[in-house]
Amino acid sequence: MNNSDLIKKTIAFVKEKLNDAEGGHDWFHIERVYKNALLIARDTNCDLLVVQLGALLHDIADNKFHNGDETIGPKTARLFLESENVLENTIQHVIQIIENISFKGGNFEKKFSSAELDIVQDADRLDAIGAIGVARAFNYGGFKNRALYNPEITPLTNMTKEEYKSNNAPTINHFYEKLLLLKDKMNTETGKQIATERHRFMESFLSQFYAEWEGMR
Ligand code: ADP
Ligand code: NI
Repeated sequence: MNNSDLIKKTIAFVKEKLNDAEGGHDWFHIERVYKNALLIARDTNCDLLVVQLGALLHDIADNKFHNGDETIGPKTARLFLESENVLENTIQHVIQIIENISFKGGNFEKKFSSAELDIVQDADRLDAIGAIGVARAFNYGGFKNRALYNPEITPLTNMTKEEYKSNNAPTINHFYEKLLLLKDKMNTETGKQIATERHRFMESFLSQFYAEWEGMR
C-alpha cells in the first residue's frame, strides 16, 4: 500500500474510534493537530509518514478515559499499524510519539526524543492556545461546572494547594497555570512563531475579559 492510501485508512480508523469522544479530544482536535503538524513539517527535516501517523494516532485512547491505563493507546495503534503491514521501525517510532507526547511529559526528563516527536508535540500544544485554546478551556471548565472567573480565587490567592483545588479553580486560572506557559515550551522554530502569535491573542483576550468584567465599554 502506498503512503497516501495508508493515511486515508488511518484517518478512517481514527474517525471511527473517536466517534463518541468528548469535545476536547474529538476527531476535529486530531484533524487540527494533523494540519498543524503538516505545517511545521514543511519547514523541518523529518520522516513525514511518521509525523502524519503520530499526529493521527496521538490521542487514540486518552488514558484519562480508560482508568488511567496508559498502555491502551499504544496497543490500539500498534494493532492497527500491524494490520496494515507498516514497517516495524515506523511502528516503533509512532508508538514512542504516542507515549511521550503528553503535556505532563514537560515536567519530566524526556525519555525519547526525535524531530518527529518534537513536531507532533508542538502541533498538539498549538491546539491548546490561541482562539481554539480559549474555546477548549471554557468547554472543559463548563463540563466540570467551573466558574469562568472568580476574583477571589486566582492563582495568586493565598491558599494551600488543597484549598485551591477543592475550590474548583475557575477556568481563567488555567491560562496562568498552563496555557500562557506553552509558548516557551515549543520545540521547533515554526512552532515557536505560531505559538507567539496565538499567545498574543490570548493576552488580548484576557485584557478584554478583565475590562468587560469591570464594566468598561
Ligand atoms: P492533552 O491535550 O494533553 O490531553 P488535557 O486533556 O489536559 O490535555 O486537556 C485537554 C483540553 O482541555 C486542553 O485544551 C486543555 O487546555 C483543557 N484543560 C485541561 N485542564 C483544564 C482546566 N483545569 N481548565 C480548563 N481547561 C482545561
Ligand atoms: Ni491531543
